[in-house]
Amino acid sequence: MTDKTPTSTEEAPRRDFMTKALAIVVGGIVALVPIVAGLMTVIDPLLRRRSSVLGTDEEGFLGVTSASSLDSTGAPRMFSVIADLQDAWNKFPQTEIGSVYLWRTDDGEIKAFTARCPHLGCTVNYKANEKMFGCPCHDSSFNLDGTRNNEIPPRGMDALEAKEVDGEILVKFQKFRAGIHDQEPV
Ligand code: FES
Repeated sequence: MTDKTPTSTEEAPRRDFMTKALAIVVGGIVALVPIVAGLMTVIDPLLRRRSSVLGTDEEGFLGVTSASSLDSTGAPRMFSVIADLQDAWNKFPQTEIGSVYLWRTDDGEIKAFTARCPHLGCTVNYKANEKMFGCPCHDSSFNLDGTRNNEIPPRGMDALEAKEVDGEILVKFQKFRAGIHDQEPV
């Protein structure tokens, strides 16, 4: 019977190999840490929303204009919605993000509609003589309460929530997908 017990000279190269392999694995992990951290720094903003509106209150309302600038006769008036935007890396101060029609009803309620036509997205006009909204692109027509006045648009005008706080009119501004029956935020 032959004795197969390894001698110390046979164990030495194996120990050497294991030590080197362990060093390579540990070294690889250590080297990966800053690379992964760097990648996360670059990728993280991309994982967030592409562009967010800054300056809204906790419910998402944004100041649009002063209450005194509403039409004194109660007719709808169009206002630009201006906000600071933030995308993945940049801020865009005082950017126009849309337009809204605002007016005060006889009982003091603030009404708001986006000025964007739900047909294909043109800007709707207010026709004061007819007390109706009309779109110049394909003749969509809307009543003062935003309901459709003909069959061209797929839905009525998109109403928005609005409120008056300390003499300022705030609107929960949203954009909706054009060309479809349902009101779907984009
Ligand atoms: S975009 Fe308004 S009618 Fe077509």
